[in-house]
This record gives sequence, C-alpha cells and structure tokens, in this order.
Amino acid sequence: MSIVVENVSYRYAAGTPLESAALKQISFTIQPGEFIGILGHTGCGKSTLIQLIAGVLTPATGRILLDGKDINQRDFKREYLRKKVGIVFQFPEQQLFEMTVERDVSFGPRQLGLPPSEVQARTRQAIQSVGLDYETVRDLSPLTLSGGEKRRAAIAGILAMEPEILILDEPIAGLDPVTRKDFMAFIRRLHQEGKTILMVSHDIDELSAFSSRLLVLDHGELILDNTPEKIFADKARLSELRLGVSQPKEIVDSLREKGIDLPSDIFRYEPLLTALINRFGGQNE
Ligand SMILES: Nc1ncnc2c1ncn2[C@@H]1O[C@H](COP(=O)(O)OP(=O)(O)O)[C@@H](O)[C@H]1O
Ligand SMILES: [Mg+2]
Repeated sequence: MSIVVENVSYRYAAGTPLESAALKQISFTIQPGEFIGILGHTGCGKSTLIQLIAGVLTPATGRILLDGKDINQRDFKREYLRKKVGIVFQFPEQQLFEMTVERDVSFGPRQLGLPPSEVQARTRQAIQSVGLDYETVRDLSPLTLSGGEKRRAAIAGILAMEPEILILDEPIAGLDPVTRKDFMAFIRRLHQEGKTILMVSHDIDELSAFSSRLLVLDHGELILDNTPEKIFADKARLSELRLGVSQPKEIVDSLREKGIDLPSDIFRYEPLLTALINRFGGQNE
C-alpha cells in the first residue's frame, strides 16, 4: 500500500489574522515496507504532516493518495483509512481514557464493528505484542501502569486495528534510555514483520539506526529526502538546518580528521565497530 503526498500545503487558523503556513508544497511518495524518519526543528511542520497523512487534518492544497485514491474525496471511505493507517500521537499515554487496559486497547476494534471474539483476540494479541502480559494487565486501570507501560498500552490500541502503515510522533521522547532501546527494538520488529513505518523523532541516532530514508523539514518545506548516508554526507547543509549527524558518524569524522582511514559513509554503530576491527584488528585469544 503506497501513499503519495502531492503538493500538499496546510495553514492553521486559515482566514483569520492568525493564519500561518505550516506546510508548503510538500511532495513525496511512501512505498510499502519503507521505514521513514522525519526530522526537523520544533515547529517545522512534522506533526502537521503526519496528521495530514493519517487524514486527521485536511490539506489546504494538494492531495494525499492511498493506493492511488484521494483520501479527502467525499467518496473515500474514512473507515478504510482508519483501518490501514494507524497514528500514534505524541504522549499517547495521555489519551488512555477507559477504565481498564482491555477496554482501552479494544476501543478501536470495537468501533470497527467486529465480532466480540475477534475484538478480544486482537486485543490480547496487541497487548502481548507490545510486551505486556494480557492476563496481568487486562483488568488494571491504565492509570496504574508505569510511563513506559502506558505508552505501550496506547500503542497496543493502534496495533489492534492492524494497520499496514504505522505513523509515530516522537514515540521515544521522555522515555528512559533502557525503555527507549526496548521500544526501538519493538518498532524494528513491527517493520520486519512487514509494516510500513513513518516516525518523527528528535533522536537522530535512533532514527538513522532504523530508517532507510530520512525526510528533513524546515519552516514547512521538505528540504531533504534521501538515505541517511546521503544526508549525513553534507554536514554543512545539516548544520545550516541546525541539525547534527549521528554519533557514529561524528566519531568516524573525528577519527578521519586525525588521519585514521575509515570509510566516510559510516553512520551506524555496527559498521563502525566492524570498520575499527578491520582497521586495528580484534583480540583473537
Ligand atoms: N493547532 C495549531 N494552531 C495554530 N498553529 C499551529 C497549531 N499546531 C501547530 N501550529 C503551528 O504550525 C507550525 C508547525 O507545527 P507542528 O506541525 O506542530 O511542528 P513540529 O511537529 O515539527 O514541531 C508551527 O509554527 C506551529 O506553531
Ligand atoms: Mg510535533
């Protein structure tokens, strides 16, 4: 299932003195199975963009096509969009509102009008898949869960809809480092299982470790759209955009400046380790 974003612009408070252009003429295509990272400074339009893709907002100009069909045409089935494209807003734990975890996670599937047995099966599976124990948490109030668990429960609610495309807005912001790692491993697994992932994050290390493609926004414009290798190759451009490169790329660049010959296109930890072992040798005892 592909998504085409075609010349999309968006304005908040349109027609009022406070009107402001949040996105300007954005175009790009998302192919099935991609893992796309969205980067850019606060206020550049990341959240607006993903809400347009999920159909939560409607573009002022341009179109968003899901498998060739304009999602904002009157005859497009909104239900279909809600089934296929799942969006996890920033701090999704704030949206938990039901009395029990089970009720919360099953909210979406219940709205789809599925038979109760199917709703329960999906709910159980979604809860297990985010690493929570169904029997333990099903009757608990979401409020009694820890921060990381609440976020997992909120994401389970989206997964229970079985979307093909999962959009995440800063999903690891505010989590402790261990929970972050767990969480990213979990998102990677969903990707490996075939979901298309679109993820907004400030964490350039995590984004570049997982994304096959990065989109960089600046002041509502799509400035860069390329692989992490290509984007990190132009550090001057990134610094103009007030963005850095990944930590492994920083390390490679400083070692190269010191005359240590390593491939300049490394930007993830594993290839960095391999290159260092190749260069200096490992311990073979
Ligand atoms: N509900 C809103 N009303 C008015 N302006 C908004 C609203 N939400 C966002 N904006 C403005 O739109 C621009 C893009 O915001 P946003 O998409 O939230 O950026 P990001 O997610 O990259 O931080 C910013 O200038 C922001 O102030
Ligand atoms: Mg945002």
